[in-house]
Amino acid sequence: NDRLITVVGGSNWDMFTYTKELPKAGETIKGTDFKTSFGGKASNQCVQAALLGSKCSIITKLSQDIFGQNILKNYKDHNVDCSNITIVPDVPSGIATIIVDSHGENEIIIVGGSNATFTTTDIDNAKPTIDKSLLLLCQLEIADEINLYALKLAKLNKKTKTILNPSPMPKDLNLVKELLEYVDILVVNKHEFNDLAAFDEQHKGNQNTDLKHMEEKSKSIFSRHTQLNVLIVTLGSKGQVLITRSNGCTMIESNINVVAVDTTGAGDSFLGSLAHYLVESSNEPEYTNQKWVDCIKKASKVAAISVTKYGTQTSYPSIKQVEDFKF
Ligand code: RIB
Ligand code: NA
Repeated sequence: NDRLITVVGGSNWDMFTYTKELPKAGETIKGTDFKTSFGGKASNQCVQAALLGSKCSIITKLSQDIFGQNILKNYKDHNVDCSNITIVPDVPSGIATIIVDSHGENEIIIVGGSNATFTTTDIDNAKPTIDKSLLLLCQLEIADEINLYALKLAKLNKKTKTILNPSPMPKDLNLVKELLEYVDILVVNKHEFNDLAAFDEQHKGNQNTDLKHMEEKSKSIFSRHTQLNVLIVTLGSKGQVLITRSNGCTMIESNINVVAVDTTGAGDSFLGSLAHYLVESSNEPEYTNQKWVDCIKKASKVAAISVTKYGTQTSYPSIKQVEDFKF
């Protein structure tokens, strides 16, 4: 049990409509396809890690409706520990309406449903699980105060490292600032990275993402947030930048070439895979820069496979499929 990954957050029923172009306001258009998938950022990250073979637990709240029942079964089918799942009566499931156009551009609306019923008691009840986890993963689909509570609780013990993927990013960045006091590892895209750096006057308006500028910006982020030790900035198909407090910036260029049909949920695939590979190598004595680079490379390979298929969890590969995939 000492290699447990726990994910707290939302579970959604994803409904995808594919279309050539996104409709304009007031316009009705004909779409080209419709698909459904298990989704929600926490759910996606958890299931991806489980598909690669990690022992995972999810802290989530589900509706009694048909989607909720199916979502519960999906967790069971993936061997996810369901002891911290609460079924809530009289609320609908969390829903994501997703429109993807022929350029792979997407628009998503999420409605919280059961995900909006989290209370701090749900986190307290899951404390024994959090305490024995090596990693706790949070995103921002559920209320910020719940994430804050969970992160704080995790940081009460030395064993559990916390990962925050601040997505969807709130308009009020001050909320993220507060959360970051309890985060060990932060995964952001370059816009989110720049926004966080801009808390420092000197970086305001600076969108430059060459390594020198990123290094400068990360210094101010690290000095503001003393718990934080690792920052991963995702650059889409270009790769990632790893920034650690002790080693500074490392550019990890992607050499992966795939034909993308649907990138929805690729970020979650990356997060879940990263958690898996970090935990898998946790028996080795220390997390060297090289080890971080290796884990990130492996995780981005998994995420790349996910963009070659439609949907969110429907596109996530198992460890076998990762091993067999021909790039
Ligand atoms: O990150 C992708 C996810 O965002 C989808 O699964 C959808 O549910 C939304 O939460
Ligand atoms: Na996909």
